[in-house]
Amino acid sequence: MKQYLTTAFVALLMAAGYYNVSYENKSDFEVWATQNNKFYTESEKMYRMGIYYSNKKMIEEHNKRDDVTYKMGENQFMALTNEEFVDLYLQKSIPPMDTIELLIPKIQLEGLNAVDWKNYSSVKYQGNCHAGYAFSVSNSVEAWYGIKKYQKISPSTQQIIDCDYNSSGCDGGYNMYAMDYVRSVGLTSNQSYPYADKEQVCKQSRNGSYFISGYLFVGGYQENLQYYLSNYPVSVAVNANNWQFYNSGVFQNCTSNETNHHALAVGFDNNSNWIVQNSWGSWWGEDGHIRLKEQNTCGILNYAYQIY
Ligand SMILES: *[C@@H]1O[C@H](CO)[C@@H](O)[C@H](O)[C@H]1NC(C)=O
Ligand SMILES: *[C@@H]1O[C@H](CO)[C@@H](O)[C@H](O)[C@H]1NC(C)=O
Ligand SMILES: *[C@@H]1O[C@H](CO)[C@@H](O)[C@H](O)[C@H]1NC(C)=O
Ligand SMILES: *[C@@H]1O[C@H](CO)[C@@H](O)[C@H](O)[C@H]1NC(C)=O
Ligand SMILES: *[C@@H]1O[C@H](CO)[C@@H](O)[C@H](O)[C@H]1NC(C)=O
Ligand SMILES: *[C@@H]1O[C@H](CO)[C@@H](O)[C@H](O)[C@H]1NC(C)=O
Ligand SMILES: *[C@@H]1O[C@H](CO)[C@@H](O)[C@H](O)[C@H]1NC(C)=O
Ligand SMILES: *[C@@H]1O[C@H](CO)[C@@H](O)[C@H](O)[C@H]1NC(C)=O
Repeated sequence: MKQYLTTAFVALLMAAGYYNVSYENKSDFEVWATQNNKFYTESEKMYRMGIYYSNKKMIEEHNKRDDVTYKMGENQFMALTNEEFVDLYLQKSIPPMDTIELLIPKIQLEGLNAVDWKNYSSVKYQGNCHAGYAFSVSNSVEAWYGIKKYQKISPSTQQIIDCDYNSSGCDGGYNMYAMDYVRSVGLTSNQSYPYADKEQVCKQSRNGSYFISGYLFVGGYQENLQYYLSNYPVSVAVNANNWQFYNSGVFQNCTSNETNHHALAVGFDNNSNWIVQNSWGSWWGEDGHIRLKEQNTCGILNYAYQIY
């Protein structure tokens, strides 16, 4: 049934001129599949092709609008429905935060300058493992060592995935639990504990060399996150349901503040838009980053933790 519907759908798209095949030349879908190393069986191919062209059409229509603040673009997620994307790349939603944390005072600020720390940690690619929390924390450590200790390091993300038992490996986790782990055990280098794109048995039997002393909740208010971001990056949780085709500009189209992914806030611009480093490769978004409209867009203020 699914296959039949998809075939009919592709036929429709062909009629509408969205699907241009020639025997001589590859279709857009085939070019994309080759570039992204996607190999499908014949039946899967028809299904994925239908999704690809429907996403392509949606992106083209979005980019024609002049009432939007951001552009969408084709990327590695082109052949996934939004449900599949949410299921494959995001984690289960993170429960609402402790009320104690809501009671932290609001910092009074005036005239903070824009800040951008994006060059102090490299954009990673999480692949098929829902471990945004682990990348968010290992990149926090990477940036913090660079900015505060003048050391260029490449800490292991896989160690967090395998050894932070309070999180759930590739099924998702919590930035503060990963930080607890780094505080008590320390991280070794990426080189000695490389990324595996899957959960493994914890292989770290001795303490690592990159430690933190603790972490602080720095969210709740825009001013608080800005104040702490002025010093160095902050690990944040976000709702990323609508980030699938984000390409550039200021994103403000989150339909929920319920967080289901983690990333690293690396700064804010002069309009108070957040600059956030993601772990979906540097070909996603603005060289791997997304700009989010000010305030609590996508729930960015809900789980903001800064290491020290
Ligand atoms: C194949 O692509 C080339 C270059 O874009 C074009 O000139 C040619 O007409 C195409 N052939 C067919 C059969 O569509
Ligand atoms: C980061 O590095 C890139 C490439 O080297 C450079 O173009 C950019 O200006 C840098 N950004 C900041 C904020 O330093
Ligand atoms: C998990 O959390 C408990 C309670 O907060 C803590 O005692 C323990 O050290 C944590 N385990 C790891 C691996 O961080
Ligand atoms: C690891 O570090 C902790 C302190 O954070 C210490 O109590 C523990 O003994 C260390 N373990 C090893 C094997 O060095
Ligand atoms: C970390 O290791 C993985 C391989 O395990 C490699 O692909 C990646 O480039 C490394 N990242 C850094 C920043 O060294
Ligand atoms: C926001 O996302 C919804 C789907 O969740 C979409 O229908 C709507 O067009 C989007 N709006 C903008 C401005 O991108
Ligand atoms: C997200 O939270 C902010 C305030 O914290 C609220 O103004 C906004 O409406 C919320 N957005 C959604 C989609 O719930
Ligand atoms: C932000 O504004 C300040 C003061 O006007 C200016 O010096 C700075 O270059 C601006 N930063 C950015 C990133 O535009």
